Amino acid sequence: MVNAGGNVAGNGRSNGAVDSAFWAGKRVFLTGHTGFKGSWLSLWLQRMGAELTGFALAPPTDPALFEVARVADGMTSIIGDIREREVLERALVEADPEIVIHMAAQPLVRASYDDPVGTYATNVMGTVHLLEAVRQAQSVRAACIVTTDKCYENREWAWGYREDEAMGGYDPYSNSKGCAELVTSAYRRSFFGGDDTPAIASGRAGNVIGGGDWALDRLIPDILRAIGEGEKVLIRNPLAIRPWQHVLEPLSGYLVLCQALWDEPAKASEAWNFGPRDEDARPVQWIVERMCALWSQNGGDKAGWTHDQSVQPHEAHYLKLDISKARAQLGWQPRWTLAEALDNIVAWHRAWASGADMHAYCFDELERFQGANQSLAA
Ligand SMILES: NC(=O)c1ccc[n+]([C@@H]2O[C@H](COP(=O)([O-])OP(=O)(O)OC[C@H]3O[C@@H](n4cnc5c(N)ncnc54)[C@H](O)[C@@H]3O)[C@@H](O)[C@H]2O)c1
Repeated sequence: MVNAGGNVAGNGRSNGAVDSAFWAGKRVFLTGHTGFKGSWLSLWLQRMGAELTGFALAPPTDPALFEVARVADGMTSIIGDIREREVLERALVEADPEIVIHMAAQPLVRASYDDPVGTYATNVMGTVHLLEAVRQAQSVRAACIVTTDKCYENREWAWGYREDEAMGGYDPYSNSKGCAELVTSAYRRSFFGGDDTPAIASGRAGNVIGGGDWALDRLIPDILRAIGEGEKVLIRNPLAIRPWQHVLEPLSGYLVLCQALWDEPAKASEAWNFGPRDEDARPVQWIVERMCALWSQNGGDKAGWTHDQSVQPHEAHYLKLDISKARAQLGWQPRWTLAEALDNIVAWHRAWASGADMHAYCFDELERFQGANQSLAA
């Protein structure tokens, strides 16, 4: 453990900002690059000049950010299944990466009730396969395993979960991510503790929102879909509170964490929470009302919502992350408020609907975020 407040970001990178110079020319292997978060991260890494290889199944949605923003143009994109250990291992060893970021997963709670076996196969054994491949590759210096805030045993507490709290998870998705955390911890202790072994950490983030998410059963895509079809938005749990954050926030956390793993491997090889500010842990109803108002203000049709009272599978109602450790020790902090995040999402979807070049648009959005990132960090 690092002392409370002790900084683990060395080499002058103690301000918690993503350092473009660090990433320029780095060989990076990213799983899940065809997904929502993976597409944004791929574009960000491309923009900073990383030599990027992605490994994932085909994009999970149609439309998909991966295609809309032409993500494959600036990288080596491999379509493959992390449940196939040898295929993954061959791809990773061939890519010869210095840094690995593992995001491929079955990421939806409700889908995990329909296919628990597939969810565990991808999220647990897929993580085992990834860590085995990292063991085989001689090149890897740092790896970040992406899990979720849902990995914690949820006690419906009013305060945030800290990194040393118990893993758990009520539903198969949440639990599979708790398992992925335990797998990561066991591999770190069993195989990666030495001076010349890769530094391994995990990143736990909350619900992300952003332009280009078309997944089923996620709040913002559901809102935009209903608005697009001129229908009322159906909301399952209007009072549920989640740690909402713009997609670029946790991605900046993973990037800063990799920088720290590179600079201070022994100290950074732990689990890290990347959540929003306390005041941005808002009920679903607040988000829906704000999105509907923004849409109407921006010239769209009037939008509204209604409570879906049908019987639903269990979902956590209150979940908040304590981000004190990442703030104090990585210097990382959230940049955009939730209100700014929602403004950006509405602007993104309006640009897409009007036929804008979304590759260029995403780069502009990354510039704006990176600007906020650097000016806040300075
Ligand atoms: N979106 C969120 O709100 C959120 C919150 C916390 C954590 N996460 C985590 O972030 C990561 C990315 O989530 P996302 O929202 O971009 O999801 P997504 O569904 O958009 O993308 C998932 C990615 O994983 C790939 N994938 C799925 N199964 C695979 C398999 N068997 N083999 C290879 N690739 C496979 C998909 O092809 C896709 O590239 C996941 O690990 C997820 O658990 C997401």
